[in-house]
Amino acid sequence: MNAFNQYLEDHAADFEAELCEFLRIPSVSADAACKPQMDRAAQWVAERFRRLDFPVVEVIPTAGHPLVFAQSPTVPGAPTILVYGHYDVQPVDPLDQWTTPPFEPTVRDGKLFARGATDDKGQLLTHVKSAEAWIRTAGKLPLNLKYMIEGEEEIGSAGLEEFLKPNSKRLKCNCVVISDGCQFAPGVPAITYGLRGIAYFELRLTGPNRDLHSGSFGGSVTNPANALAQILAGLIDRHGKIKIPGFYRRVLPLSDRERSELAALPFDEQEYQRQLGVDGTFGEEGYTSLERRWARPTFDVCGLWSGFQGEGAKTVLPANAGAKISFRLVPNQKPEQVADGLRKQIAKLCPPGITWELTDLHGAPGVVVALDSPYVEAAARAIESAFGRRPVFTREGGSIPIVVRFAQVLKTTPLLIGWGQDDDNAHSPNEKFSLADFHRGIKASAKLWEELSKIKM
Ligand code: BES
Ligand code: ZN
Repeated sequence: MNAFNQYLEDHAADFEAELCEFLRIPSVSADAACKPQMDRAAQWVAERFRRLDFPVVEVIPTAGHPLVFAQSPTVPGAPTILVYGHYDVQPVDPLDQWTTPPFEPTVRDGKLFARGATDDKGQLLTHVKSAEAWIRTAGKLPLNLKYMIEGEEEIGSAGLEEFLKPNSKRLKCNCVVISDGCQFAPGVPAITYGLRGIAYFELRLTGPNRDLHSGSFGGSVTNPANALAQILAGLIDRHGKIKIPGFYRRVLPLSDRERSELAALPFDEQEYQRQLGVDGTFGEEGYTSLERRWARPTFDVCGLWSGFQGEGAKTVLPANAGAKISFRLVPNQKPEQVADGLRKQIAKLCPPGITWELTDLHGAPGVVVALDSPYVEAAARAIESAFGRRPVFTREGGSIPIVVRFAQVLKTTPLLIGWGQDDDNAHSPNEKFSLADFHRGIKASAKLWEELSKIKM
């Protein structure tokens, strides 16, 4: 591994510069105005594989943003690994809360700040640079790599979903490697065996046919903003239980063994509160913070609007109100069933004088994967060699919608090895990625190719 380590050392600055170039492309999948940037980002990714002389490099159009598919030269008899990642990023607002602009990557205190730094451009690039290091030092990779890098993860992966079934042969692999998540804590790397699912909706309420004087009319007609508050408050009780018929029916309970394993992780409740700047935590009664975040379903309002938002006071009874709401799901809940139950509950809670409309924006079930596989063992060894510590086993509260579909359609297990940190500000202002984690990620990935290549097919 000597020439190899030398290569990583000699090219560390190049790798960082390349990541910065990637981060300068504002590939916000949710923003229609970014469409040309989405194509640019896809081409940028494809170009990495062309430079490595991969025999297959394709930018595949979809109804939404393009997919990038690439394949390394065939190594007969060796395992085939699919690397999944996403080049799309979340919107940047509130923009005024960024210390430096989101698409002008800046290093402060060993951390690279930019939208997409950790989620997922920095993390996905580790698996490209590791392949580069192999090719430039050993002349070739020790196994077969396929890459599927998409541009719609942050908006539900519709294009990849369409592509998956008819192209399952091309994506056929022994295991899917994904770095799009977090370590447990700084210096405590993790292998993730569970992700939550999601069911995301937009709720729109309409009341009177126009905004009204709140003095002249207030108290005589239902105010949609008041109604919205009532409905939302009626979806969860003060014990943190979600009030939707049948919501918990299929929830896979935590086993005693898993509960004690989670309890044994080095998690400090006080430190958690301090980190988030809150003076107390809240969640479903009877569960710890880690259980609530990783293994229990939740309801959150992600956005809320109605009435007057300007400076000072305006006495108005608004004609409309709306909210974006999400439920995080755990195995074996189904997003469609949540949607049905939610409609019933809103119908029950909605006061007279209001019409409502619920739009289902996206959904995906949660997933838990088995840990007793040679792939997990290989990953544990690779991580240990790069991070100097054996990984702990965690679940995550976030969702990667396509993971379940990979399991169902490709019949393979995902290997979730996130290089990020919980406080990397994914989806928030000042997103960042530790450069040390970036380089350790590259090293771990390179070692992973070696470890996986030893698995007998
Ligand atoms: N990288 C995240 C998923 C994630 C978050 C994994 C935290 C582990 C820890 C991913 O890019 C993401 O944010 N996904 C969305 C999916 C949704 C928009 C369908 C999410 O979880 O909100
Ligand atoms: Zn991500």
